[in-house]
Amino acid sequence: MLDVRHWTLDFEKNPTSNVQRPLSNVQLLSMYHINQRRLRANEHIRDLASEVQLHVKDFIQPIFIDETLSARAGSPTMTNVFSETLESALQQTEADLKAGVTKFLFFPVPKDRFEKNFNFDYAANCIKKLKENFGKDIWIASDLCLCSYTAHGHCGVLNAEQDKVLNHETVEILSDYALQLAQAGADCIAPSDMMDSRVRGIREKLNDHHLSDVAIMSYSAKFSSNFYGPFRDVCKSAPSKNLKIHDRKTYQMDYRNGSDAITSSLRDLQEGADILMVKPALPYLDILTKLRQQTTAPIAIYHVSGEYAALELLAKNNLIDADAGHIEVWTAFKRAGASSIISYKARDAKRIIV
Ligand code: PBG
Repeated sequence: MLDVRHWTLDFEKNPTSNVQRPLSNVQLLSMYHINQRRLRANEHIRDLASEVQLHVKDFIQPIFIDETLSARAGSPTMTNVFSETLESALQQTEADLKAGVTKFLFFPVPKDRFEKNFNFDYAANCIKKLKENFGKDIWIASDLCLCSYTAHGHCGVLNAEQDKVLNHETVEILSDYALQLAQAGADCIAPSDMMDSRVRGIREKLNDHHLSDVAIMSYSAKFSSNFYGPFRDVCKSAPSKNLKIHDRKTYQMDYRNGSDAITSSLRDLQEGADILMVKPALPYLDILTKLRQQTTAPIAIYHVSGEYAALELLAKNNLIDADAGHIEVWTAFKRAGASSIISYKARDAKRIIV
C-alpha cells in the first residue's frame, strides 16, 4: 500500500537543488492530495478558505400584486409564494423589512387586457402606495412587460395578421409605461420583454423627463425556457395556444446560442442598462461566468419559478432539505459571478444563512 504521508518532494528535502525542475504528475498529485484536506479539516479553516459569502443584502424578493383578488392567495404550484392584494402587499413588505429584505421586484397582475391604449394605472398606483408607506427604506424594481396586459399573452403587441410581435411599437408602449412607473416612484425599471433597443428607448424617455436617477435592470440574458411555467400561472401570462405564434422563441433567447446572451448584454450596457441579468439560473451558470469576464457591471441572477418549485418539490418528497438546498444553489450563483440574487425565498435568507 502506498502511504502518501511519506511522499516528499525533492525540493522540500533540498530547497536549493532543483526548484527549477517541473513537478511530475505524481509529485503534483501527492502535493494536492496531502494539502487540500487540511483546508477542509474544520469549520474555521473552511470559512477562511471560502471564496464567497452569502448575505441577506444580496437578495431581491419578487412580489406579485393582483388586481382581481380580494384576499391574498397562495400560488398553486410554488410553496410560500403569494399573489397579494395591495393591502396584503403592504403588510408583507412590513414583515419583509423586519426580515432584512429591502429590495423587491414587482410584478403587477392587472384585471384588464388590452390590444391598444394600454392602461398602466394599477401598476403605477401599487408603486405609489408602496413608496408612500416605506419611502427610501425599500428599493423597488418594476418588471416591465406586456404579457400580463395583452389578451394573447405575448410580451409585445402583434401585427394585423397576428403572426409577429412588433418590436418598435412595443418599445414605444414600454417606454411610456416605464415613465409612468418612474413618476410613481419606482427606483428601477426592469424590462423583461426582450424587444431590441428597449433599454435605449426607456433610458431616453426617463432622461428626457429628468428621471435620470432611475436605474435600469435589464433582463439582458433571458432564455426561452421551460422553467417559467409556475410564474405564468401566477401572472396569467402564458401565450394563448390559439395563436399562430404560441411560444416566445422569436424574442427570447435560444439556449443553444450562448453568444447571443453576451452580445445582447453588452449591447444593453451600451444602451444605458445599469444592472444586467442572467435568467434562468442553474442551467445558465456558464453564461454568467462568461459575462462576468466581459464586464465589471453588476449582474443579477434570477432563480426562476420552475427552478424554485423543483427544489421545493424535492423537499416535499423528503429528498432534500429545502433550506440547505437553496443555500447551496445561491452560493453557486455567487461563485459563478453573480452580484445579486432574485429568489422567491429571499425573505428567508437572513434566517437560513449561517
Ligand atoms: C415576463 C416575465 C417572465 C418571468 C419574469 N418576467 C415570464 C416569461 O417571460 O414568460 C419569469 C419569472 C419566473 O419564471 O420566475 N415576461
